[in-house]
Amino acid sequence: MFVTTKVWTDNLGSGQVIPSLRESLQRLGLERIDLTLIHWPSPNDEIHVAQYLGELLEAKRQGLTAAIGVSNFTIAHLREAIDAVGVEEIATNQVEIHPLLQNRKLVAFARQQGIHLTAYMPLAYGKVLAEPVIQRIAASHGVSPAQVALAWSLQQGYAVIPSATKRDNLAANLAAAELRLSTEDMTAIEALDRGERVANPGFAPRWD
Ligand SMILES: NC(=O)c1ccc[n+]([C@@H]2O[C@H](COP(=O)([O-])OP(=O)(O)OC[C@H]3O[C@@H](n4cnc5c(N)ncnc54)[C@H](OP(=O)(O)O)[C@@H]3O)[C@@H](O)[C@H]2O)c1
Repeated sequence: MFVTTKVWTDNLGSGQVIPSLRESLQRLGLERIDLTLIHWPSPNDEIHVAQYLGELLEAKRQGLTAAIGVSNFTIAHLREAIDAVGVEEIATNQVEIHPLLQNRKLVAFARQQGIHLTAYMPLAYGKVLAEPVIQRIAASHGVSPAQVALAWSLQQGYAVIPSATKRDNLAANLAAAELRLSTEDMTAIEALDRGERVANPGFAPRWD
């Protein structure tokens, strides 16, 4: 088990980050969590990255969380985060990545800086499963389209976090770690990128 929580945008103001994390710990019945992320950058950057990440680092120092990181951070936000707490403190940037949104600019920057990426919504909430190319590759390996999408992400070194409420889906998703896609498979999936973002609320940052 690896437990992650995130701090919502309402709780990024001065003195709010640690109480928000304590509340999450209480609700989870834990004294310490594995990873705490800033869920989104402050809308319109009203609150500086250095302010809330500094507080999150203090939470780590107090032993409330083993690691800290960010989510939905753009390259510009990552640069600010690196300046604020140092790249070695940023365990991950959790962002939307799947075959229809491959996020190449951000991925290149994160790799260059050595920041680990977590691919959220790796099935684009089901959209990826309907792609004929994914279905063809799945049939050729005798696996499901979801397993192909997850293997594609895993093979690029991302932490991959599909959600599933059905037991069979959970088991199939775990088994995707055993699937090895060929270079031809990977190249065919690369061509599916069309910048199709699913999680894009009004307060989202200006994406790369
Ligand atoms: N940081 C952020 O801002 C952010 C934003 C969005 C999401 N996330 C995180 O990303 C994770 C996943 O996101 P998500 O749930 O929105 O999207 P997702 O994982 O892309 O899609 C989940 C959907 O796919 C189905 N599914 C899962 N495994 C399957 C399989 N093997 N075969 C067929 N269908 C399958 C699920 O159905 P069943 O439930 O019926 O199994 C569910 O309908 C969550 O942990 C979420 O917290 C983070």
